[in-house]
Amino acid sequence: MSLKQISVIDLSQIDSQHDARIADEIRFACHEYGFFYVINHGVEKVLLDDYWLLLKRFFELPGEIKESINKIHSPHFRGWESLGSELTNNQVDHREQLDIGPEREALTNPYPHYERLIGPNQWPTALPGFQECVLTFMAKMSTVARRILSLMSMSLGLDSDQIHHSFGEIPGPYLKLIRYPSTPSGSQGVGIHKDSGYLTLLLQDNIGGLEAQACDGKWYGIRPREGAFVVNVGELLQMITHHYFIAAPHRVVNAKPVERFSSAFFYSPDLHARLDPLPLGQGLIEQARRSAWHQNDGFMPSRQQILMGTQKQGTENLPRVFGHRYWQRWERSYPEIVRKYYPQDYTADS
Ligand code: OGA
Ligand code: NI
Repeated sequence: MSLKQISVIDLSQIDSQHDARIADEIRFACHEYGFFYVINHGVEKVLLDDYWLLLKRFFELPGEIKESINKIHSPHFRGWESLGSELTNNQVDHREQLDIGPEREALTNPYPHYERLIGPNQWPTALPGFQECVLTFMAKMSTVARRILSLMSMSLGLDSDQIHHSFGEIPGPYLKLIRYPSTPSGSQGVGIHKDSGYLTLLLQDNIGGLEAQACDGKWYGIRPREGAFVVNVGELLQMITHHYFIAAPHRVVNAKPVERFSSAFFYSPDLHARLDPLPLGQGLIEQARRSAWHQNDGFMPSRQQILMGTQKQGTENLPRVFGHRYWQRWERSYPEIVRKYYPQDYTADS
């Protein structure tokens, strides 16, 4: 593994004097690595401390309490899952997690099929203050994500709200609270994947174990950095930037003998949003086209494609409406939930 150091963007430094330099730095980071850190992001330390404490307390809850909000009870893929419930590349991940999405009522007649993702969360009521803290945290993270998207937009020579325009009416923030026990040898904490939204904001403790692949094909560690969020580009940004931004493959292996905690916040558009390419300048489009790595870098396959042996899919086959793409993400990771609630859509393993 090489020892690359990714950029650290100080959000408190953004003013007209620094804008151009920071824009260059963000553009470079998103083109070469798809990863960077942000510091001085404006989310209060007291909120982060409360949130982090509740995250750990959640995982300490007795098994039967967590079991009562098992994701298998949710037709909307929300709730807790025990170790080994999620598949990445059709292999079991060695992590335990709680998934929380936009808090909405389920629709009586969800149509198209991806509207089945709309629905309520399963909250751990045994933890006082948990729901309130998590919702406050998600609202703050949405603000930070929007700010970063506007910087990304400007870094591409576009209006600051151009990317956000494509979001539609109801953006879909999604939060994952994660615990990684020490990864058994030969296993994966989470297997190699790309994130499915526009961007991800990750908080991690000081254990380490997150690795990403750069455009030279080498893997490098995204080391813990006190007070920073790790930002990574999701597939949709790669898609709409003509592959100029890259959604880097990443994975986690916790090689330490102690557990590791993290929190991943995924910022995604309205389910009905159309994923049209951004009007980038010809120079950037050409630059992406000339790089074989950028051109050939594909996207996570659907479950059906995985079962047929496809490793990656190209932009041309990706659904143009976000909900269609997003459904593929959940179907790929949780075939058992699809089998339980939507048997007509279930694709068996063989
Ligand atoms: C993810 C992810 C990294 C981590 O959940 O998509 O990449 O450090 N998580 O937990
Ligand atoms: Ni990820």
